[in-house]
Amino acid sequence: MTKNQDPNDSSPLKPSRPVSVVIFGASGDLTQRKLLPALYALRCEGFLPDHFRLIGNARRDYTDEAFRDLMREGVEQHGRHAPSEEDSWTDFASNMYYVGGTLEEAETFDKIKQKLEELEANDVEESIRLYYLAIPPSAFPIALNNISEQGLSVPESDRFRVIVEKPFGVDQETARVLNTQVHSAFSEDQVFRIDHYLGKETVQNILVFRLANGIFEPLWNRRYVDHVQITVGESIGVGRRGGYFDQAGIVRDIVQNHMLQLLCLVGMEVPIRFRAEHVRNEKVKVLMSLSPLSEVDIKTSVVRGQYAEGVVDDERVTAYRYEEDVNPETTTETFAAFRAYIDNWRWAGVPFYLRAGKRMKTRTTEITIVFKHPPLALFKATHERIPAPNQLIIQIQPEEGIKLRVGSKRPGTKFSIDPVQMAFTYEQSFENAPPGAYERLLLDAINGDSTLFAREDEVDYAWRFVQPILDAWQTTDLCPVHPYWAGSWGPDAADRIIERDGRAWRNEMPGEEPTLT
Ligand SMILES: NC(=O)c1ccc[n+]([C@@H]2O[C@H](COP(=O)([O-])OP(=O)(O)OC[C@H]3O[C@@H](n4cnc5c(N)ncnc54)[C@H](OP(=O)(O)O)[C@@H]3O)[C@@H](O)[C@H]2O)c1
Repeated sequence: MTKNQDPNDSSPLKPSRPVSVVIFGASGDLTQRKLLPALYALRCEGFLPDHFRLIGNARRDYTDEAFRDLMREGVEQHGRHAPSEEDSWTDFASNMYYVGGTLEEAETFDKIKQKLEELEANDVEESIRLYYLAIPPSAFPIALNNISEQGLSVPESDRFRVIVEKPFGVDQETARVLNTQVHSAFSEDQVFRIDHYLGKETVQNILVFRLANGIFEPLWNRRYVDHVQITVGESIGVGRRGGYFDQAGIVRDIVQNHMLQLLCLVGMEVPIRFRAEHVRNEKVKVLMSLSPLSEVDIKTSVVRGQYAEGVVDDERVTAYRYEEDVNPETTTETFAAFRAYIDNWRWAGVPFYLRAGKRMKTRTTEITIVFKHPPLALFKATHERIPAPNQLIIQIQPEEGIKLRVGSKRPGTKFSIDPVQMAFTYEQSFENAPPGAYERLLLDAINGDSTLFAREDEVDYAWRFVQPILDAWQTTDLCPVHPYWAGSWGPDAADRIIERDGRAWRNEMPGEEPTLT
């Protein structure tokens, strides 16, 4: 198995062994929108071996043909590669099969096993078998139990892998129980807990940017960094996911996984090698170093909000409480903001401000590293204001790129300083569009490279950090739910947690240039 491929190795990651993928939940939204388009893109770009086959399972009744048609629709609507290249689609589709049946019945797994054995009968080498749990989290335990009971997995074998979708538990306790269930069928190195943020090019580029350029890493510490901001803003509301979201809230949906992963990549120490074990060790250390939030911290430095009605993208939208399948009395948060500290040598005393929200002014995911001012304001006499500090802005969506804000002399007779920007976007700098996150992650899982997946202890420490917030919100009246207008940057209370430290959120629309004064 090609484990933990060296990133400097640009050779294609096409597996040399046959590959069998089984998707549980093959009639669902995730399969249609993400998994099939990603697998087909991998096929078109030559990353799948000649001996590749896919088995889909769900409760609905399909023939192989009907299933192939359904998958084709998904690829047509959501894929980077339209299935118009008849040859590759025909070949790809002819290796797709459907085995119907419920996850509760052992017979379903027996049928899948038989189908796998039939398809693999002529393989000259043992195939890799990848199981994808694209099913509701409530069905994870029974699926894992039946995979194990019916002999579809052999722990420790380098042949088997499982991808488990998020959410990984709803709190620390349930995540631990789920980890035990997963381990009843698979050993840890066979488990790939997916967080699709880690499949995004810009997210991976955080590490490359820090560690492959001599100029940034020396500045990446408390001596030069004033503070860090991470914003995950969505302009959409909960749409048709109201039932799920109202049980979850933004801390479980975004903060515990995506945001803490971003925090880890920004905050981690340099791994001794770019291998899964070392990268994940360093990420875990960041989570272990997060200063635990006391009840007082939660009351004073954590804000929860919920969107009221408002205007987003020129459209009037309803308040969260009136969304479909949401309890009109709900206190579930659609916004959260907080200040965190990484208590280690590198980051001691540097605040990390994080906020995530739905129905925000714009869709943006970005990390801003705000550097300290120079030690002496030399141009103070001619410049009426303190110039803006240098900022490094890592934009993850909508456009993927990196910007560096610096001060520059404004042309003229005085030493006036204006912010200017050096920027790169993937779109402008590289010819090819970056691969979708699921493409990268599926290929890594097939190849057994777990660098971009969350390890058991990573998930546990992430829950450990957010659990006191969730508990406090359940038990105290002193953490009010702050309403905010849909289409705004969140409640005023979120501004206060950063403003009282003499700082401000970077409330800029993506693509906005610095204003020259
Ligand atoms: N959709 C996304 O963008 C997204 C993003 C992140 C994470 N996820 C996670 O991915 C998983 C799937 O999400 P989804 O949106 O695709 O859900 P979905 O559209 O509701 O699909 C669920 C799938 O599971 C099958 N299923 C449910 N119960 C089953 C049972 N007892 N036996 C056999 N099959 C069963 C369904 O089959 P039938 O309909 O035929 O019964 C369907 O194919 C969830 O864990 C979700 O949290 C999804």
